[in-house]
Amino acid sequence: MGPRLLPRVEAFGAIAAVLYGSVALNTQVTLADNFDPLDYVDPLIGTANGGHVFPGATLPFGMAKAVADTIGENQAGFAFDTTVVSGFSHMHDSGTGGSPSMGNFPIFAQPACPNDDLNQCKWQLNDRASTWKRDSPKARPGYFGISLDNGVHAEMTTTNRSALYRFTFDETSADALSPVILVDLIDLPQSRTNGTADVNKSTGRLTGNGTFNPSFGIGSYDLHFCVDFKGAELRDTGVWNKNRANFSRETVTLAADGTNTPATLSAGTFARFHAPKNNTILARVGVSFISVNQACVNAEREQPDFDFEGSVSAAEAAWRKKLDVISVDAEGVSDDLQKVFWSGAYRAMISPQDYTGENPLWKSDEPYYDSYYCIWDSYRSIHPLLTLVDPLSQSLMLRSLIDIYRNEGYLPDCRMSLCKGFTQGGSNADVVVADAYLKKIPGIDWDTAYEAVVKDAEIEPANWNVEGRGGLHSWKSLGYIPTDDYDPDGVGTHTRSISRTVEYAYNDFCIAEMAHGMGHKEDYEKYLGRSGNWVNMYKADQKSSIQGADTNFTGFLQPRYTNGTWGYQDPIFCSPLLNFTSCYLNPDGHETYEGSAWLYTFYAPHDMGSLVQTLGGAEEFAKRLTYFHESGLLYVGDEQAFLPVYQFHYAGRPGLSAKYNHFYIPSQFNTTVAGIAGNDDSGAMGSYVVLSMMGLWPVPGQDVYLITPPYFKEVSIRNGITGKLATIRNVNFDPSYQSIYIQSAKLNGKEWTKNWVTHDFWTEGGVLELTLGSEESDWGTKMEDLPP
Ligand SMILES: *[C@@H]1O[C@H](CO)[C@@H](O)[C@H](O)[C@H]1NC(C)=O
Ligand SMILES: *[C@@H]1O[C@H](CO)[C@@H](O)[C@H](O)[C@H]1NC(C)=O
Ligand SMILES: *[C@@H]1O[C@H](CO)[C@@H](O)[C@H](O)[C@H]1NC(C)=O
Ligand SMILES: *[C@@H]1O[C@H](CO)[C@@H](O)[C@H](O)[C@H]1NC(C)=O
Ligand SMILES: *[C@@H]1O[C@H](CO)[C@@H](O)[C@H](O)[C@H]1NC(C)=O
Ligand SMILES: *[C@@H]1O[C@H](CO)[C@@H](O)[C@H](O)[C@H]1NC(C)=O
Ligand SMILES: *[C@@H]1O[C@H](CO)[C@@H](O)[C@H](O)[C@H]1NC(C)=O
Ligand SMILES: *[C@@H]1O[C@H](CO)[C@@H](O)[C@H](O)[C@H]1NC(C)=O
Ligand SMILES: *[C@@H]1O[C@H](CO)[C@@H](O)[C@H](O)[C@H]1NC(C)=O
Ligand SMILES: *[C@@H]1O[C@H](CO)[C@@H](O)[C@H](O)[C@H]1NC(C)=O
Repeated sequence: MGPRLLPRVEAFGAIAAVLYGSVALNTQVTLADNFDPLDYVDPLIGTANGGHVFPGATLPFGMAKAVADTIGENQAGFAFDTTVVSGFSHMHDSGTGGSPSMGNFPIFAQPACPNDDLNQCKWQLNDRASTWKRDSPKARPGYFGISLDNGVHAEMTTTNRSALYRFTFDETSADALSPVILVDLIDLPQSRTNGTADVNKSTGRLTGNGTFNPSFGIGSYDLHFCVDFKGAELRDTGVWNKNRANFSRETVTLAADGTNTPATLSAGTFARFHAPKNNTILARVGVSFISVNQACVNAEREQPDFDFEGSVSAAEAAWRKKLDVISVDAEGVSDDLQKVFWSGAYRAMISPQDYTGENPLWKSDEPYYDSYYCIWDSYRSIHPLLTLVDPLSQSLMLRSLIDIYRNEGYLPDCRMSLCKGFTQGGSNADVVVADAYLKKIPGIDWDTAYEAVVKDAEIEPANWNVEGRGGLHSWKSLGYIPTDDYDPDGVGTHTRSISRTVEYAYNDFCIAEMAHGMGHKEDYEKYLGRSGNWVNMYKADQKSSIQGADTNFTGFLQPRYTNGTWGYQDPIFCSPLLNFTSCYLNPDGHETYEGSAWLYTFYAPHDMGSLVQTLGGAEEFAKRLTYFHESGLLYVGDEQAFLPVYQFHYAGRPGLSAKYNHFYIPSQFNTTVAGIAGNDDSGAMGSYVVLSMMGLWPVPGQDVYLITPPYFKEVSIRNGITGKLATIRNVNFDPSYQSIYIQSAKLNGKEWTKNWVTHDFWTEGGVLELTLGSEESDWGTKMEDLPP
């Protein structure tokens, strides 16, 4: 378990020495042997207050994700700010906004029916829901457990495509135990159009299928399930509908007829058991997008023996293997901060989900990943982190994206449940592709990848709500997206003219980088030219006031008409200080997406030199960025906030990047159930804290990592492709984080004055040593030290 262990143990050893004197040495050894990153992962972080984190059992990037589903908040199934559980289901997404995701075919257990009468049991979703005991949820990678007031203690674990539930019944909860376990054809968004459930009378096996809608996209998907039981003798089986049950039937069919069988209708099949020998019944649920048969085969292959402990250990081993590439010397660092760090890394590896072999839409030998939910969120931190800690998975995800392009015609900006998801801004898969190209992710068909990103930039799709870009005619002729865009080439939501313009500009820059590397000279010139288009939205004399008081900063992005004249959107509109929630993805969503013109004015990641000059030079830029952080105009819970924490580097003030990094962590990221800002967005917030605490912030889509001191004395990552170890070490490390300013740096023993490094550092390995002090220094401040 490597070098990470010793130093943390020294800290414990020091405490132990005080407490136990001479046994300290032994204690050190024991602790070193016992270090387990999983002890620092708390999957319940971010399950309250809209974090929407999935806290249940899953493998890294696994398809099966089991958890208790609550009523009310349930985007990811379980949320802490709820009171009742209505089922346990096997498929989820994590951290998403909008409506709940999947949660198909929940099962639910009751110890017995009152008076042993099936019709006195509670069947439909709202009636059967039972209060969960407040202190009962236990979550650990690969395991989730919870106790309900109905006398059931439910535990669950998963393999890649099946879940295993262990229900333990409280003997005192019924006169005589005769447990009933039902399956419901419903899903969390209540989107089902039709479905069928069957029960095999002799085996008690419950199977079925249904057609459902994705939670943030168009179209529909079919899913299939297969439930088997172990641990008790089968008593009888049957079907139920609303609150009536009937054990003479074996099938319930809900037709695609919204009037008689609305999507909210609860119905399904059940199996009833004689009292289990030791009060425990195991339920194994296979899932598949292909067929019931494949759902059964998945479960039989992955969990032949219903071995609950075995599946938990296999899941833990899979998670340890993912996390073991990271090592930290945590001497002096609080347990809470360590938990924030490891839990963030864990959440970054829940999605995208590996559905290889489960895609009914096309035949291919390429991997198929799904739940890119959404790339607008994930390109900024999740994929850059995976590139460091799991480049081989990043390669599989890239290949899958390119295969989606081959078969669907465009790269997705968002995709879930085999369906096209909504595009929020630019075609940001271009950034993910270019980032992988620059960082030499192996195994990619770069020619097809290039074809895909060029198509985004050149060919407008018929429905640009779900792929590609809109307004390409104006983009090419005017160099910006006008507020009153006339766009005969495709349909889409005509909002976000400012944010789409700056994102398209950056997307084109990313294409230019690839063109440069691949020798497409003309394309390079063309896309580099277009990448300067952000400036076309810049209105140099625009002022900004907060409650009538001038902020004294002039020059902001503003909406613009086709004829070139300016429109107006208050620069603070859609910041936390004014109408924060007015810029969502709806027809009156205004000109900036999920943020203000203040925020988007900082978005020219490829052209920071010009931006700094445009905003009045380095000093004025740093002043404006400082004001942006201090004034309450910036909300760190939306992903566009990440880069502005570090953009002081471009003004020669890397110390301020470190300062504002510590401004947000831990104040906005902690170990409480409400401990993340905003939705986690499939691990975007989790990867933000990990990258921030590691001290090298990747500028997504560029071969640039901005240097700030790690939150640890030392942090290392072993590269999954080259096997080399890269270490960032703080000299004069101060765990109270007063000394967070770099005074000098050495890269592999040589003086390093640039405030950034390239990806070679990670692939070739080495040591970046940062000497810290309590005041800003002139390290990394000169023009020649700044990132390109
Ligand atoms: C789960 O799938 C991954 C690929 O995504 C594979 O590497 C792993 O071995 C599988 N785990 C098990 C326990 O089958
Ligand atoms: C029920 O399961 C048994 C055992 O697998 C099988 O032989 C039988 O055909 C099944 N019955 C139905 C109706 O599918
Ligand atoms: C769903 O199940 C029913 C009953 O077994 C079957 O007739 C139907 O073909 C299945 N639908 C799909 C899409 O597999
Ligand atoms: C639901 O009905 C549609 C239309 O008839 C059909 O294509 C689909 O396969 C059905 N879903 C299932 C799960 O059988
Ligand atoms: C009793 O329950 C445990 C799990 O709690 C299980 O491993 C064991 O096999 C069960 N024994 C019987 C006889 O079912
Ligand atoms: C149960 O189903 C059987 C077979 O269809 C039917 O004869 C019986 O009336 C049903 N019983 C109830 C209570 O619905
Ligand atoms: C802007 O400048 C005016 C005049 O110098 C000053 O009174 C005011 O406090 C400044 N506003 C801010 C937000 O600094
Ligand atoms: C430009 O177009 C806008 C929106 O149609 C209109 O309000 C404005 O008057 C036009 N300006 C000029 C100079 O024609
Ligand atoms: C801004 O918020 C205010 C107060 O909540 C509301 O009255 C107004 O309609 C909002 N304006 C827009 C454009 O959304
Ligand atoms: C924990 O994080 C949440 C979410 O950002 C924040 O609202 C809360 O104030 C933080 N709690 C503490 C004690 O810092």
